[in-house]
Amino acid sequence: MIEFKHVTKTYRSTTRETTVTALNDINLKIDDGEVVFLVGSNGAGKSTLMRLLTRMETPTSGSLIVNKYDLRKIRKRKIPEYRSQIGMDFQDFKLFPKYTVYENVAFAMRVLGKSSKAIKTTVPLVLSMLDISARANHFPMEISGGEQQRTALARALVNNPKILIADEPTANLSPSMSREVMDLLVSLGENGKRTVLIITHDVKLIQNYKNIRVVKFEHGKIVYDSKNAEAGADA
Ligand SMILES: Nc1ncnc2c1ncn2[C@@H]1O[C@H](COP(=O)(O)OP(=O)(O)OP(=O)(O)O)[C@@H](O)[C@H]1O
Ligand SMILES: [Mg+2]
Repeated sequence: MIEFKHVTKTYRSTTRETTVTALNDINLKIDDGEVVFLVGSNGAGKSTLMRLLTRMETPTSGSLIVNKYDLRKIRKRKIPEYRSQIGMDFQDFKLFPKYTVYENVAFAMRVLGKSSKAIKTTVPLVLSMLDISARANHFPMEISGGEQQRTALARALVNNPKILIADEPTANLSPSMSREVMDLLVSLGENGKRTVLIITHDVKLIQNYKNIRVVKFEHGKIVYDSKNAEAGADA
């Protein structure tokens, strides 16, 4: 489970004594196996939320608990162990141009110290799941945007993470490719085995997924949560 309790995150500018409040008193609970769309305009705080979850940043105040980890108190040496349960697919998380599709995905296993035997059996399975086996020996430059996105997803998924976070996974994709990638992401969480958080600007696209929870951010606050809205709580 992911639980934000009164989480505030402020950034201090390096040049001046000013601060920016990126997230302001956030309370948010996400159960294991939930699929959630995180929406909101530029600067609303979505990527900050993701950076807190991946422990690239720490909350300025409040508490953030993910599974058994208290992310404000976690020891530095425990962070890799924590992160190994999280698959991240960032828009600006580029594929290595000099690695093939296969090597890009295998790399994610190698950094966790997985055996070459495990790599040899798992990578082809994940490539086939994402329907990019035919591109395994191609370089990122030689494949389409949608295939690149699926490769990045394969890389995020190859270690079978409990939580998958995708930041703008459909940016720069055509509408049909966007639909394809979004269907895939939603299906990855569908059996309830994995929590999937999808940050997106594409409000039109998510209208296709009526049963999925939508949490909307504005100026660092949650202004709408369809789960609570149904229960009659304030939006
Ligand atoms: N490292 C940083 N230092 C200072 N301010 C930052 C930093 N990162 C983000 N901010 C500010 O925090 C606020 C929230 O930014 P964030 O990146 O979380 O927004 P976002 O919702 O992801 O926006 P977008 O849709 O444009 O990606 C913005 O006002 C942004 O300028
Ligand atoms: Mg962002």
